[in-house]
Amino acid sequence: MKLSIAFSSLLALIPLATAQQGPWQQCGGIGWSGGTTCATGWICKYQNDWYSQCLQDTNPVTPPPSSSSSSSSVPPTSTTSSNPPTATGLHNVAVSKGKLYIGTATEMYKLNGDAPYAAIASDINEFGMITAENSMKWDATERTQGVWTFTGGDNLVNWAIANGQKLRGHTTVWHSQLPSWVSSGGFSAAALTSVIENHTTTLIDRYKGKILMGREPFNDDGTFRSSVFYTTLGTSYIATALHAARAADPAAKLYINDYNIDGLGAKSTAMANLVAQLKADNVPIDGIGIQGHLIVGAVPNNLQANFEQFAALGVEIAITELDIRMTLPVTPEKLAQQKADYKKVVAACKAVPACVGITVWEYTDKYSWVPGVFSSQGAALPWDDNLAKKPAYDGIVEGFN
Ligand code: G3I
Repeated sequence: MKLSIAFSSLLALIPLATAQQGPWQQCGGIGWSGGTTCATGWICKYQNDWYSQCLQDTNPVTPPPSSSSSSSSVPPTSTTSSNPPTATGLHNVAVSKGKLYIGTATEMYKLNGDAPYAAIASDINEFGMITAENSMKWDATERTQGVWTFTGGDNLVNWAIANGQKLRGHTTVWHSQLPSWVSSGGFSAAALTSVIENHTTTLIDRYKGKILMGREPFNDDGTFRSSVFYTTLGTSYIATALHAARAADPAAKLYINDYNIDGLGAKSTAMANLVAQLKADNVPIDGIGIQGHLIVGAVPNNLQANFEQFAALGVEIAITELDIRMTLPVTPEKLAQQKADYKKVVAACKAVPACVGITVWEYTDKYSWVPGVFSSQGAALPWDDNLAKKPAYDGIVEGFN
């Protein structure tokens, strides 16, 4: 009996020790005991100390060896410079094509609690820009009037600076995640103007030198969204916030951003008209943020034309919250479509010089906001739940090529 068990165990181990890993599979990392070589045309690449992955060998320099393995392998626990973090990460590829950055949204509680996750988020080769997913929003910074909480934002700024990454502020004036003292405060127009000015000034002064933006002024049909700001002040709240922001930090890039303004349409036209009016009124505005919360297989075909209409207003543009979700479960076909969709978005940004950079809204499916809001949907990001790169990652790279 014992012999039998030992024999069975040995059989089970043999394939693990010699089998080639398939496309996108893990092939190394601390604690990994599986195969460390990849199928033909794929190469085992170091991602971080905890994860090496079979990725497409886009630059084969030598023909595959005649041995059973056609790919190089990476020792699972290697931390040496012979297997350095990828030299061609997303940020590097974007910069090589004249863009300023590829960024990701994140938060300190994830970075502090998940070392493998933090290793990728802090990799300057992958991400040159960090956005606070929630910790700079109104409900996080001024939950009670005049009582400020900067801990989350400050820690993230310091973390990004330590990594050599830039930081994108998010956000000054937004109808969501707004504390009730603002949304139900019953302020007069003058008092609410002062509340906006004070919040914007304090926030931007704190993070002087960073990019800040205000957000989501429109409904999907291009009419102005009803919020305490619009109801009390009409559209003037936008100019109020932008003027206060410019005064607090003349060097900060001021963006206005929204979702569903990716392709041409009523909402994009409304954004273009708003920005044209702001410029005509000498209100400071530097950029339009296209959030880019998209759906696999349904990415608009006229992205570039839309980006060009924004650029023609004399502002820069950025894709500020990119994710492309699918109906679960994940299938190879959906992943292939998602790759094509990411490529399409990136190619449109690449084609328009005014498009300065792209931020993904989290980089891994592990922490995406999507499943919590859209039931049965998810897998929207270029890294999966296990921090493995998906085909979407290559789609981004190919979009820049
Ligand atoms: O921190 C609390 C936690 O204490 C509590 O136990 C838990 C229970 O639900 O909630 C936690 O707060 C959540 C927060 O994310 C942090 O995880 C909020 O409920 C949740 O509403 C909040 O969602 C954020 C959402 O904005 C709010 O509108 C998402 O993380 C964030 O990704 C999402 O980001 C927005 C952009 O700011 C603007 N554009 C759209 C984008 C997606 O909705």
